[in-house]
Amino acid sequence: ARKDGSWVGFGPGKVILLGEHAVVYGYPALAGALSLGVTARGEWAARPKLVVPASLNRTARAALERAFARAARSSHAPPLRLTLESTLPVAVGLGSSAAVAVACAKVLLQAAGDRAQGKPLLRVAREMEAEFHGTPSGVDHCCSALGTLVRFQRRTGAGEGRARAVPSRKPVKVLVAVAGLRTPTRTTVAALRERQARWPERYARVFKEIGKLADEGARAVEEGDLEGLGDAMNLNHGLLSALGLSSSALDECVYSLRREGALGAKLTGAGGDGGAVIGLFREPEPAVARLRRQGWTCFSSQLGGPLAL
Ligand code: MEV
Repeated sequence: ARKDGSWVGFGPGKVILLGEHAVVYGYPALAGALSLGVTARGEWAARPKLVVPASLNRTARAALERAFARAARSSHAPPLRLTLESTLPVAVGLGSSAAVAVACAKVLLQAAGDRAQGKPLLRVAREMEAEFHGTPSGVDHCCSALGTLVRFQRRTGAGEGRARAVPSRKPVKVLVAVAGLRTPTRTTVAALRERQARWPERYARVFKEIGKLADEGARAVEEGDLEGLGDAMNLNHGLLSALGLSSSALDECVYSLRREGALGAKLTGAGGDGGAVIGLFREPEPAVARLRRQGWTCFSSQLGGPLAL
């Protein structure tokens, strides 16, 4: 507890460098935590309550309230009033719901006198994510909870997937650009599930290849081979496009980032008809400045590796 009797928890947003969608089917993915995210603050109150941001529509408010009630129950937290502050764009594939889940779970666990990390944190955050997304793979909240570059693999059946931090020799920096609001993740995942159920072997071949790229990318990160990582990202974008998860808007953003000199560029997250794209750069700032002048919504983030002094 802090001296003034209030608690604070931060949940970072995430980008998937390699392996979205295939991760739902049990193949590995590589994801990194962003410096942007959600901060939750909790104070004593008569009963547990989450102050829902006014900007949310009615459906999103109700989902958030249900998710919070589930997390409060599963963390045995005393009555708290929580408020949220976010620096993360919402509904574009940058893991804002997982960031909310991790931020709230940290505050609830601290107030309950529990460990706000490791297994308890993953368990409570997963309760909230399940309310938002149905049956998410778990990559988003695991990445947000670990707060670094992670290799994640879903476990078959229930329970937490396996997540391990991937150490990087070199700074891994990305430019993140928002291409626009997208269809809900649930819809994109369900449409892909229908296609793969109809042609299971064909789709399994593509998922398997994406999983291999994720592992090759994780190895490239460990070896400081940014060109190898970028090439895996380019191939992964092609495969996501083959799976019907890209759009002309996303493809155009990806090509623009490559023209800007990205070592690799791809859509990130669920994709569909909007969302976000990432480009891997040794130094993304000049491209961020140029693209902002052209009206892009973009920013840079370091996902891993040594920080410059
Ligand atoms: C969403 O950030 C990533 C997806 O792979 C869905 C999931 O993992 O549950 C599209």
